[in-house]
Amino acid sequence: MELCGVPLRGPILNGSGTFDAIAARRAFGDALLERFPFDAFVSKTITLAPRQGNPPPRLWETPAGMINSIGLPNKGLEGFLAQDLPQLAELPVPLVVSVMGFSRDELATLVEAVGQRPEVAMIELNVSCPNVETGLVMGADPAETARAVERVRPLSDRPLIVKLTPNATEPEAVAAAAQAAGADAVSLINTLKGLAFDPDDGGHWLGGKTGGVSGPAVRAIALQQVHAVAARVAIPVIGMGGISSGSDALDFLRAGAAAVAVGTESFRDPGAGHRIASELAQLEAREAPNRAAAPAPAMDITQTGDSPPTFFRR
Ligand SMILES: Cc1cc2nc3c(=O)[nH]c(=O)nc-3n(C[C@H](O)[C@H](O)[C@H](O)COP(=O)(O)O)c2cc1C
Repeated sequence: MELCGVPLRGPILNGSGTFDAIAARRAFGDALLERFPFDAFVSKTITLAPRQGNPPPRLWETPAGMINSIGLPNKGLEGFLAQDLPQLAELPVPLVVSVMGFSRDELATLVEAVGQRPEVAMIELNVSCPNVETGLVMGADPAETARAVERVRPLSDRPLIVKLTPNATEPEAVAAAAQAAGADAVSLINTLKGLAFDPDDGGHWLGGKTGGVSGPAVRAIALQQVHAVAARVAIPVIGMGGISSGSDALDFLRAGAAAVAVGTESFRDPGAGHRIASELAQLEAREAPNRAAAPAPAMDITQTGDSPPTFFRR
């Protein structure tokens, strides 16, 4: 298959910031390269200046998910280009570099610099941050997103993926604005805003106070947003949010995604990308006969108007 003209051996990417390929290489050595779990690798988001990230604690477990307030620690553009990029270039799959700017000028500097490097196959714009000039979260507003994409589009010939935030009134309007401004693909969802209190003292648990919710808890929301966005735009959609099995991945493809990404599940199972790919392949091979299966008998014991075989399936 291909994504924005880049050949991929399959449809499974990682969600930015959820798999540290450099640390994994240190832990697993060249075995990681022989059995790399993803078909393209998306870097953790980098910013122009180095960042320490938020103070700990940075994670809180929720039912079927977690809240993170990592705060984008990274070496900054120069550190990334000098230290991380050469190591990421050794991965056996195309490299997507995720960038975030706190102004359009910053974003432009990042895209121009990253987009000149031959090791970089695609660039993902993480627009889930406030623009320091307007105070608006770039990706929450169609016009802000369009202005950001228009600004960076002429600066690189690499495909540009706009990573949409679910914390927007109408993500499909943001996706349409990104497409009109020259984006080659959109990816979604990023995390949803969340909050947790310390059970002992009632204060904020997370060092960054609020954080982003991810994992199976957000999957139904992600699926709806992917479905709505895919119906609105003609460019490829990369779907993510709580994918932990081949069946979940298949749901996102059915919703209109061209590819999917695995995030939080890699924390539980670092080989999740591989497992999900093989589960997906098995399901796709079986899909056609299953579609013709007889409908479940109508029998409402739930007072929901739905029949138990449907309600309790999976
Ligand atoms: C610990 C953690 C760090 C993340 N860091 C980033 C990041 O740097 N850039 C980004 O665009 N998304 C980041 N994300 C969001 C994920 O890429 C993904 O969009 C989101 O978690 C939903 O997918 P999931 O439910 O499969 O994890 C992060 C998510 C987690 C859990």
